[in-house]
Amino acid sequence: MQYEQPASLPEPDATSAEHSGRVREYLRKKIADAGGKLGFAEFMHEALYAPALGYYSAGSAKFGADGDFVTAPEISDVFGRVLARQSAEVLGEITNGTVLEIGAGSGRLAVDMLGALDALNALPATYQILEVSPDLAQRQKTLLQREMPHLFDRVQWLSDLPTTFSGVIVANEVLDALPVERFVRRAPGVFQLCVSTKGEEFTWLEQPASDRLTAAVRAIEADIGKVFPDAYTSEVSMATASWIADLSGCLSQGVVFLFDYGVSRREYYAPDRTDGWLRCHFRHYAHSNPLLHPGIQDITAWVDFSAVAGAANTAGLDILGYQTQSQFLMGGGLDIEMQGFKDLPTARQLELSGQIKTLTLPGEMGENFKCMALGRGDVATPSALNFADRTQTL
Ligand SMILES: C[S@@+](CC[C@H](N)C(=O)[O-])C[C@H]1O[C@@H](n2cnc3c(N)ncnc32)[C@H](O)[C@@H]1O
Repeated sequence: MQYEQPASLPEPDATSAEHSGRVREYLRKKIADAGGKLGFAEFMHEALYAPALGYYSAGSAKFGADGDFVTAPEISDVFGRVLARQSAEVLGEITNGTVLEIGAGSGRLAVDMLGALDALNALPATYQILEVSPDLAQRQKTLLQREMPHLFDRVQWLSDLPTTFSGVIVANEVLDALPVERFVRRAPGVFQLCVSTKGEEFTWLEQPASDRLTAAVRAIEADIGKVFPDAYTSEVSMATASWIADLSGCLSQGVVFLFDYGVSRREYYAPDRTDGWLRCHFRHYAHSNPLLHPGIQDITAWVDFSAVAGAANTAGLDILGYQTQSQFLMGGGLDIEMQGFKDLPTARQLELSGQIKTLTLPGEMGENFKCMALGRGDVATPSALNFADRTQTL
């Protein structure tokens, strides 16, 4: 299998290389214990979340200039401020509504949201965070305690979804971190791509797909109206539907805001997209080889938003809208956030306009990143979603 791999991918430093060596040994043992191969979703899960070893569970920087990638809240507080405006609309309609952020990363979005909700006089009594990584949860606590000491006691870390919830659920770049299966279509049927070992290296191995994976791939083919050609390779998320069902299970009234890079199903499984949508991040280099640098590089997959919409429908959630991140920001109050712009010092104006360009321009995050809002109960569609809705493209 060919992978786009920048010639200039940097070498890990000694500490990271040593950590990656430990993760490699752990994965090799997992593969051996499983009889010589792991399905890709299991490999991805272990590489990202194995306790104290996986990319998200261990202590590397990850976010920001010293890490591997930047996310919207790491780029600018404008993202959190607009999202807070939209959340305030929802909270204004719900008695004792709460905010629940899933996968809070460094904690930056929580800082920005709390600050902006406070300024809007719309602070919820609690701001809950559900984070799978104990290391990141600790970093979130440190950041929030340092930057929001007066609001710190409103923040609660959960170990599971609440049994019942009313308010706003936010997940920025969480769907792309859920493990995906890789498949390859062959004339006799669907094959699962597994990870095996060859000498010191990890290598790909095909095996006939389970009935469940085969059914998922055939359902996609039925949906797009064609059978994939021989050797067509892509990903399918078997985790998204249950993740959405779990959110739906706890949401009694409110709105879920999902942000991620993703496309509709037709684009996801386009004829020319013959090697899928995996994206790995290492020291700000993006490439598509998930078998490199285990435990010290991020592994993600773009999101099939038609699948998310389908899962939401099945779970009984309303699809309130689907739009680009740029449209969300522009429809959601970016203009209001920019009202004092011309009074700012020139250096700050330049900094802010650079950040907004990164968040909104089509060649940056503006077009590839999408916002999908799901709802339940008596809540109006947040105003941003009334701008340039693309739900009919899903
Ligand atoms: C790409 S990071 C995004 C972090 C943050 N939302 C941001 O925008 O900077 C993915 C985050 O989701 C967390 N995560 C992944 N799967 C999760 C799950 N099932 N439940 C809760 N958090 C999860 C990771 O530990 C990490 O904090």
